[in-house]
Amino acid sequence: MTQNLLPHHIAIIMDGNGRWAKKRLLPRHAGHKAGVNTVRLLVKLCAEKGIEVLTLFAFSSENWRRPTQEVNLLMELFMSALQREINNLHKNNVSLQIIGARDAFSDKLQQLIAQAEKLTEHNTGLTLVIAANYGGHWDIVEAAKRLASHVEQGILPCHEINEKLFEAQLCLANLPEPDLFIRTGGEKRVSNFLLWQLAYTELFFTDTLWPDFDKVLLDKALESFATRQRRFGRTGEQVSENA
Ligand code: IPE
Ligand code: IPE
Ligand code: MG
Repeated sequence: MTQNLLPHHIAIIMDGNGRWAKKRLLPRHAGHKAGVNTVRLLVKLCAEKGIEVLTLFAFSSENWRRPTQEVNLLMELFMSALQREINNLHKNNVSLQIIGARDAFSDKLQQLIAQAEKLTEHNTGLTLVIAANYGGHWDIVEAAKRLASHVEQGILPCHEINEKLFEAQLCLANLPEPDLFIRTGGEKRVSNFLLWQLAYTELFFTDTLWPDFDKVLLDKALESFATRQRRFGRTGEQVSENA
């Protein structure tokens, strides 16, 4: 596979932790713990391959609807993984960004997130984006609120709002758009992940549960991506003529 055909940005819905645990007669939490190991592996593989950005959906705006005990355990796991991994990420030149409504997290977790982002902000290797308490609807509403406040303050005439200006207010605005979306766990839906940003992303679904995702499957997703003709509205002939 040539370097050109590699996606710049991969976005993943890491689904299936609960079912992975259930199959083994373990509590759901054991699946989430096993899922963290897959995150570590994926970060390493993507960094080695020269992928620029990896965005991982860790906790959705809707995941608060889960039993309190599971939510608490997920928060603890997020915090301990951050504490444990951050120095290693920094050593490997990874820059970490967290997207989502972080004001819902405990003060301690918010502090940890801020420290981790600050520590790694100048790193030039893989950008690892963790979506936590993130929702595509939330992202779009926040962008709309910011633009509305610019209009209210008189610094932006309403008629000047366009797609480019809107996009600049969204999460990931400073990064290349996701080229490849992967969802593990068998469901064929987007579950309020990056709604705006996925407009022209290539989609790859696998039944494999997240803790079982590995190098072989990542390569399969990358091979599939490499065979796709991205037309962005044009005809196939137009695209091959310009290639
Ligand atoms: C994904 O795995 C992790 C989170 C949503 C936090 P799930 O916990 O959704 O696993 P399943 O879908 O129940 O198997
Ligand atoms: C999506 O998975 C969110 C994350 C992986 C963090 P869910 O398991 O919450 O999605 P639904 O509820 O099955 O759509
Ligand atoms: Mg799920």
